[in-house]
Amino acid sequence: MNAPTEGGLKSRYDAADLITQEVLKRYESTPDPRLREIMLSFIRHLHSFAKEVKLTSKEWAYTMNLLEETGKWCGPGRNEFIIFSDALGLSMLTVTQDYPRPAHTTEPTLVGPFLLENAPEFPLGADISAGAQGTPLFAQGTVRDVNGNPLPHAKIDVWHSDDRGLYDVQQDLETNGPWARALLTADAKGHYSFWSIMPVDYPVPQEGTAIIMLSNTTGRSWRPAHLHYRVQAQGQRPLVTHIFDRNSKNLDADAVFGVRPSLIADFVHHKGGTAPDGKVMDGDFYTLDYDFIMVPA
Ligand SMILES: [Fe+2]
Repeated sequence: MNAPTEGGLKSRYDAADLITQEVLKRYESTPDPRLREIMLSFIRHLHSFAKEVKLTSKEWAYTMNLLEETGKWCGPGRNEFIIFSDALGLSMLTVTQDYPRPAHTTEPTLVGPFLLENAPEFPLGADISAGAQGTPLFAQGTVRDVNGNPLPHAKIDVWHSDDRGLYDVQQDLETNGPWARALLTADAKGHYSFWSIMPVDYPVPQEGTAIIMLSNTTGRSWRPAHLHYRVQAQGQRPLVTHIFDRNSKNLDADAVFGVRPSLIADFVHHKGGTAPDGKVMDGDFYTLDYDFIMVPA
């Protein structure tokens, strides 16, 4: 009996195509139609990517090890996989295509890796910085529906960096507790306000695995200064977004592609004086006014 003949390059590609066909055929039996659609497309694109770049076993083993290492950087308040998703633009792509909206409503953006559920609740107008260092900031606005009507008692999560560009979860959260992080409830007229500190531009975490990819590729790891918000109101789609500082130097180079022009706002600088809530400030402070226009659920 003759042994099967191994030909040249062409037959190797034929064998690769046969593997793809065999895998696709097996996954066609996936019972759930949506999962079947996703898996078949995923396998087709994944195999075609591996063929296009002629992915080697060594390169794939490196990737598997990197993914294993990535898992080790995950824990409460830190999901390293999200940073990969963000830095590859996949987070913004899915957020954008999953949130059809009228043109004048607030644009969503990615959630990022540092959202915590059950943030400490503060009354309106309170200082949420909880000891974090930075220049004082007073932020306020109104949560409205698509027709401009105020949405009473909307729930607003806000979280942001200190003046070192760090978040509470990157420090000793268990020892020091959360800071620059709050859950607020808008009043009966949909109005919200709080004191905190100015966020600053910051790089994505410099320890971990996502930074390895960025350092070896784009070299772009900075994010423009921003406040994170999650707004939830009765009958409305939850909105996750950022408000960016117009004076940031990194608006055109966000490492995670989150900037949208409508989300850039004026953080107005004041050299002392009376703040909008009547508080008299001796030194520098900033104010921000921003309304959120929600999309009906
Ligand atoms: Fe952030």
